[in-house]
Amino acid sequence: MDAYADDIEKVLIKADEIQAKLVEMGEQITRDYEGRKLLLIGVLKGAFVVMADLSRALTIHCRMDWMAVSSYGSGSQSSGVVRILKDLSTDVTGLHVLLVEDIIDTGLTLSYLVSNLRSRGPASLNVLTVFRKPEAARNPVDITYVGFDIPNEFVVGYGLDYDGLYRNLTSVGALSPHVYS
Ligand code: PRP
Repeated sequence: MDAYADDIEKVLIKADEIQAKLVEMGEQITRDYEGRKLLLIGVLKGAFVVMADLSRALTIHCRMDWMAVSSYGSGSQSSGVVRILKDLSTDVTGLHVLLVEDIIDTGLTLSYLVSNLRSRGPASLNVLTVFRKPEAARNPVDITYVGFDIPNEFVVGYGLDYDGLYRNLTSVGALSPHVYS
């Protein structure tokens, strides 16, 4: 039984393509951070999937911590005003921080998180996202590691949800209109 088969209009990125990209990014990050104290910070909830795969694609030591934020706004439109729902339990002073996101859409959440984390005095701060939507390109924040540039469609899977569902899909697909209309 596949509870999701009817709900996905088309698969945009297959599971094995995502896994291959994570392995590639993991190898790059292993090279870039060798000999450094690396802290991965995942942004809940969606980033739990990429954190699990990325961390296991690394062959260097890393620590992990989590933040949960909520963005004020109307409907799905984010406003740029972000509230911290769960903060880190790690002091990032002197650590090499890699912020791990599932998706950057408007980039507003990222802008807030980067300036917030930078103020805490990490040794360095970089950003990884698995998916990036076109509008994010207008954001001034540098993203060091980008998995896939994707079109501005309503996508779910690999951590991305609709109404809390579909995060556990291994591929990423566009949702059929019948689900939300
Ligand atoms: C997603 C994603 C980012 C944010 C990006 O989280 O993980 O944090 O949206 O959007 P932006 O670039 O427009 O600011 P979401 O708010 O969907 O929360 P979730 O991970 O709990 O689903």
